[in-house]
Amino acid sequence: MNFNGLQTDDKSGVALLTGAYVRWTIPEGWNRIEVDLGCGSGSFLLQMAEANPETLFLGVDIMLGRLRKVQKKIERLGLQNVILLRAPAWSFIDIFLPSESVDRIHILCPDPWPKAKHRGNRLASSEFMGCLSQKIKRGGTFHFGSDHVPYVEMVLSGIAGLRQFVSNQNRLEDHKEFKTDFEKGFLEEGKLVHHFAWELV
Ligand SMILES: C[S@@+](CC[C@H](N)C(=O)[O-])C[C@H]1O[C@@H](n2cnc3c(N)ncnc32)[C@H](O)[C@@H]1O
Repeated sequence: MNFNGLQTDDKSGVALLTGAYVRWTIPEGWNRIEVDLGCGSGSFLLQMAEANPETLFLGVDIMLGRLRKVQKKIERLGLQNVILLRAPAWSFIDIFLPSESVDRIHILCPDPWPKAKHRGNRLASSEFMGCLSQKIKRGGTFHFGSDHVPYVEMVLSGIAGLRQFVSNQNRLEDHKEFKTDFEKGFLEEGKLVHHFAWELV
């Protein structure tokens, strides 16, 4: 896989996006790219990768320890279509991804930062989604899921002001059976995760 000369973790081979300004060159032979941003333990990512061997998946998370465990699962499953990258989400989207390079970006159960004083830490701000929209191909998809209603409301109202996002819930169909570990936990507690998909026009 082409990591553009990024440093890799000695223990696992996970690619590390540090302070360097590196823009990704998509490896040859891959026409379809999907990103699971904040992939955590990788349940959703790996189910998607197994179901779509012709798509290259990027699993991105800030926690290297989690990614090391995901890398072990990838090796056990023998998957050839997943790259793991330890990176802060903003640098990954803004710096690493080339413009209009990705077919679908998933942000699932992001940290909700429920306290008013921490709301500024939420990842999916309008500014972030504006930046993210430039990295998704025309006709591509942004998929967001959260159990936390105030966060969902923030995202819906932010996207209402971004005309490049057009709601298209059909884009949830192909993976509606695939759950992240957080979603599984919420379901056990009787909490629903609300999923939304938008097409980029
Ligand atoms: C609540 S967990 C959800 C994990 C997974 N999506 C799921 O639903 O099971 C949020 C994940 O986002 C990651 N994360 C939080 N802030 C991040 C950031 N700024 N950049 C990249 N990953 C981040 C955390 O390390 C964590 O794995």
